[in-house]
Amino acid sequence: THQWRGIIEEYRDRLPVKDTTEVVTLREGGTPLVPAQVLSERTGCEVHLKVEGANPTGSFKDRGMTMAITRAKEEGAQAVICASTGNTSASAAAYAVRARMVSAVLVPQGKIALGKMGQALVHGAKILQVDGNFDDCLTLARSLSEKYPVALVNSVNPVRIEGQKTAAFEIVDMLGDAPDIHVLPVGNAGNITAYWKGYKEYAADGIAARTPRMWGFQASGSAPIVRGEVVKDPSTIATAIRIGNPASWSFAEAARDESGGAIDEVTDRQILAAYRLLASQEGVFVEPASAASVAGLLKAAEEGRVDPGQKIVCTVTGNGLKDPDWAVAGAPQPVTVPVDADAAAERLGLA
Ligand code: F0G
Repeated sequence: THQWRGIIEEYRDRLPVKDTTEVVTLREGGTPLVPAQVLSERTGCEVHLKVEGANPTGSFKDRGMTMAITRAKEEGAQAVICASTGNTSASAAAYAVRARMVSAVLVPQGKIALGKMGQALVHGAKILQVDGNFDDCLTLARSLSEKYPVALVNSVNPVRIEGQKTAAFEIVDMLGDAPDIHVLPVGNAGNITAYWKGYKEYAADGIAARTPRMWGFQASGSAPIVRGEVVKDPSTIATAIRIGNPASWSFAEAARDESGGAIDEVTDRQILAAYRLLASQEGVFVEPASAASVAGLLKAAEEGRVDPGQKIVCTVTGNGLKDPDWAVAGAPQPVTVPVDADAAAERLGLA
């Protein structure tokens, strides 16, 4: 009888819902904050991972989506639409099912991970593959929501940010205060905006004594905020953050500047190295985009920009099962053995 009730019920007084609001939830949030042993050793800091892949559809998007779909339902919408690199669409599709609504999703053709496509399909979303990138999809989704009776549930919808800010609340509730540094991947820049809002609210109300420095990391081939200009043809193996013109760009810069933080870039090679380290040394399997936070922390540590003794939280945003190709690629093929203990033991190096 004591299960986590989902972020709206847990943080109702801090979210824009009425007493009468009927909540659409899959009991998202309440995700593990896992001490990262190897990352702590490498940095001389106390590093924690906020494992958002443990959400119902496998990413942090569920926090925003419970709010967006609850609001859309309350306003009488019968259909929702989003542009997505895969996780938002998976989440929208699932929550629309809970609300008995129709979902439509626009994804960049050929550029979303198979697991995410499978989620949208199995939840019955109407899927359009757009001949363009995420930024084109978002332009199209916006114009459809302006012209037709369909509610936009991308993070340009402010209630999405409200839902996602609850991750910062959970971290402060667990640690007793905000960390010194919060690190996360940046794509469309909604999440860094949301965390910063959450941390500021808790500090303003005296629940946290301080706010963290916000460190965001973009993939080098998709780093418009780092470059200071739109990237026309963004590229990275981390398809979730393959975005050239983030919708929450100015909010991300505000989070960076107000917090005394930084937005920097990591290469695909650094992302994949962090991805493998997380899986093989911390036991946490994330999707490549999620590893950008950890890649960024390691890069900063190598450059001597991480003073030891600090408390650091890295958000790992999505589950590794969404995009398992990268786990299999380059790994040795498992060997086949007969049903024979001696032969198996020999292969395992036990004999
Ligand atoms: N990590 C993952 C796994 C994501 O799916 C995303 C964004 C991000 C990080 C970046 O978060 O956009 O708030 O800066 N995915 C969006 C989507 C764009 O459509 O699923 P952000």
